[in-house]
Amino acid sequence: MFENLKEQPADKILMLMQMFRDDPREQKIDLGVGVYRNAEGVTPVMRAIKAAEKRLWETETTKAYTGLAGDPAFGDAMIGLVLGSAVARDKVAAAATPGGTGAIRQAFELIRMANPSARIWVSDPTWPNHLSILKYLGIETVPYRYFDSETRGVDFAGMIEDLGRASAGDVVLLHGCCHNPTGANLNMVEWQAVIDLMNERGLVPMIDIAYQGFGDGLEEDAAATRLVAASVPECLIAASCSKNFGIYRERTGILMAVGQDASRQAVNQGTLAFLNRQNYSFPPDHGARLVTMILNDADLRADWMAELEKMRTGMLAIRRQLADELQRLTGSDRFGFLAQHRGMFSRLGTTPEMVEKLRTDYGIYMVGDSRLNIAGLNESSVPVLARAIVDAGI
Ligand code: LMR
Repeated sequence: MFENLKEQPADKILMLMQMFRDDPREQKIDLGVGVYRNAEGVTPVMRAIKAAEKRLWETETTKAYTGLAGDPAFGDAMIGLVLGSAVARDKVAAAATPGGTGAIRQAFELIRMANPSARIWVSDPTWPNHLSILKYLGIETVPYRYFDSETRGVDFAGMIEDLGRASAGDVVLLHGCCHNPTGANLNMVEWQAVIDLMNERGLVPMIDIAYQGFGDGLEEDAAATRLVAASVPECLIAASCSKNFGIYRERTGILMAVGQDASRQAVNQGTLAFLNRQNYSFPPDHGARLVTMILNDADLRADWMAELEKMRTGMLAIRRQLADELQRLTGSDRFGFLAQHRGMFSRLGTTPEMVEKLRTDYGIYMVGDSRLNIAGLNESSVPVLARAIVDAGI
């Protein structure tokens, strides 16, 4: 049997992690995988997580199974965090999943189950694993223009033109905030236009929101997702707690299905639970429980928000410093987009050859499409990167 197995394509982002580890040079900078790092290069366990873990250790009396959709309290807390009061609670079905990726996978399966002929429209570019999972599931994918490689902003006209060709029932995969890999985002006027178009054409939005709190703020980053959920008949939302709670390896995420009205909620909820059961049965609980404790406790929540805000503003300061440094070295504003982009990533907009040159000649690791992780930088590595960008001739 095993002789029939073929080597699988390596995930570009995870491959880069390994290459960085294997590089013996002392002077090397990892701008690859999307993991937050502080100025010391550490991915810290957030204070509120530590406090919640301690409390949980002291008070938890059982490790027996929760529900198939996870603890309902987690669902309530996350619906509150992501959707606020944008939609009535009884329209929303929700299930805990192993990370945001688990939610994405379950959403794709739900789409395939509900409408096997639906195509999924994805931004060009998008997170590579979106494409990989879609291909694995045999779901037809259609790219829509998104990134303007001249301005490094959103090619909004191209996006609207492409989505104008989608058929009723097709799904549009959108990044709720902090677009990965480009860092370029729609403004609220543009979001409204996309919503109008989706409603006009009968398209179903699916939102991947993995970086809430890393862009313009917790509420601000949820604004587009809330507007979509409040303005369309149905949508899917895959949310991750990996980044904003710093609990990557705990695999904590949630899939929400916002239905037309409360009458659909029970079937939608049952479907999410069923899909969990088929794929991995009960979702992981530890991270979800910590998140619930933090969101439901005023002190823990305030401390978590304060630490997250410091991470966010730290990344913004790095963006500003890098844009300024490049301005100083080149005498031009052509890297000004770095300060405009939001979230952990920016797409530099250079060739794979240049990305390789940065890696071999300067020990600077970024994803081949020239995505750089802003959180991989600190005050002292920014000038090193800026100098390398200029010296390499980017
Ligand atoms: C990334 O884009 O780097 C992160 O979402 C981590 C991953 O799993 O790829």
